[in-house]
Amino acid sequence: MPERVRIAVLASGRGTNLQSILDACARGEIPGEVVVVISNKPDAQALWRARRTGVSAILLDHREFPTRETFEARLAETLNAYSVDLICLAGWLRILGPGFVRQFTGRIMNIHPSLLPQFGGRGMYGERVHEAVLSAGMKISGCTVHFVDDTPDGGPIVLQSAVPVEDGDTPATLAARVADEEHRWYPLAISLFAERRLLIQGRKVRIVEARERESVANEVTR
Ligand code: GRF
Repeated sequence: MPERVRIAVLASGRGTNLQSILDACARGEIPGEVVVVISNKPDAQALWRARRTGVSAILLDHREFPTRETFEARLAETLNAYSVDLICLAGWLRILGPGFVRQFTGRIMNIHPSLLPQFGGRGMYGERVHEAVLSAGMKISGCTVHFVDDTPDGGPIVLQSAVPVEDGDTPATLAARVADEEHRWYPLAISLFAERRLLIQGRKVRIVEARERESVANEVTR
């Protein structure tokens, strides 16, 4: 992997996580750059955020492809054309098939607005997650950054951060508190990846010190 990682962000919506990644790159906190932003939704604000920063913004509308396989083949082709090292899903609302995930094993990350494995999986996205957390009477919630495997929200966990659930919280107030955490922790996880400090060992991710990095480089399974 080159010294500066080439990052692709896949986003279907508002793109506030994309923004936090762009900002962290601009501040020099991530040794890398976002080289392309891809959305499957024409009206995604994420595309606009990319364009105003001078980053390539590409619309790949899944409805224009006859099958999931043809859509994912074009997606992979586009990512390879930009020689990306890391693919960050940030509010990307399409489940990626096993064939696609296999091609990029250990190089796809996602952020989820709960403490996985709770409140994750198929159909658990957006406000639904926070509604479920509140209905369960949870006292804490949070966010999880994880590598992507072929189970929805199921890959090895990189980082988690907890927030309190407060009396009187609504899905919107809880979502806002969790989003603040997401905007800190996703860029941090990406910078650890870029510094080659994440070792995937089965279900677990070990975070190594920078000085340990060279001696364990051969263990990296990505
Ligand atoms: C975030 O809550 C993220 O955890 C989830 O989708 C949401 C995306 O928000 N995967 P934004 O588009 O980054 O604002």
